[in-house]
Amino acid sequence: MVSYRELGFVNTRDMFKKAVGGQYAVPAYNFNNMEQLQAIITACLETQSPVILQVSSGARKYADQTLLRYLGQGAVAMMKEHAKQKGLKEIPIALHLDHGDTFELCQSCVESGFSSVMIDGSHHPYDKNVELTRKVVEYAHKYDVTVEGELGVLAGIEDAVVAEKSTYTQPEEVEDFVKKTGVDSLAISIGTSHGANKFKPSQCTRNADGVLIPPELRFDILEEIEKRIPGFPIVLHGSSSVPVEAVKIINANGGALKDSIGIPEEQLRKATKSAVCKVNIDSDGRLWMTAGIRKHFAESPADFDPRKYLGPARQLLIEMYKHKNENVLGSAGKA
Ligand code: G3H
Ligand code: 13P
Ligand code: ZN
Repeated sequence: MVSYRELGFVNTRDMFKKAVGGQYAVPAYNFNNMEQLQAIITACLETQSPVILQVSSGARKYADQTLLRYLGQGAVAMMKEHAKQKGLKEIPIALHLDHGDTFELCQSCVESGFSSVMIDGSHHPYDKNVELTRKVVEYAHKYDVTVEGELGVLAGIEDAVVAEKSTYTQPEEVEDFVKKTGVDSLAISIGTSHGANKFKPSQCTRNADGVLIPPELRFDILEEIEKRIPGFPIVLHGSSSVPVEAVKIINANGGALKDSIGIPEEQLRKATKSAVCKVNIDSDGRLWMTAGIRKHFAESPADFDPRKYLGPARQLLIEMYKHKNENVLGSAGKA
């Protein structure tokens, strides 16, 4: 058993308290490899933003759960060293399990030093979701690890769970769920979804530049939820914006992405002014990384040193994360 404190992480309690009162959201960025992690830490330190490093069970399988934990620990050391060198304040970093689907997975993460875990029982019937979430909370709280639960189903692919259609969170359930489970934050479903194809073009309208604009998120449901659990930390999953520029670069350099539509930044900005205090972003990182690599190979086909193509891709990620912190989530300067 390793305590997250020994590894230099913080849990999400204080982060969320400040964010809910401060009208901004803490970024929760997924990582699977070193370059993504370096980009997240560099961008968040330079913009002085708190950050939640997210690890899915797929990421644990891909990168090896032990290595990934040490990568997280290394990220804290890197942040401290760079802060000293650049004369910047250190930033709070949480290590979070994204979409944990079993008690055992959550337990394993708590034991290996995660400071926060998500137990996603959203696909279970309500009572089973309550029971599973409560069990994880009882265990995690013994170690002061914070827990995120979920009510309502997001469409798209989440590691163990594939949902074709989303089911919005029912506001009538949130108070009971929060009370019975003791969770520290609640992920809700109000129209976001996972992946790079969040809406069908037929659901969208076009703006003057021909860009597809999706329907608004269900801010009415969010408001209703906030009325029932005032000030309680709310989490938005599936919040990538799927930038048109990244998709263009990918497709101009041999890619074949079709109907890629994300959540407009304007809507995310609006959401952060509410009790939404954690916004999950993975796909945008994947897209910019792919854009950088494809562009590099198209321009320099003779390159074969991974540093030559991963380096520029990492730089694009740094710029993207800085942009999110500064212009979308409002977390810059809140470390
Ligand atoms: O919500 C899902 C995250 O984007 C993680 O994706 O399970 O493919 O690692 P993954
Ligand atoms: P995106 O696919 O929109 O990036 O969502 C990521 C997410 O919700 C991770 O839990
Ligand atoms: Zn998610």
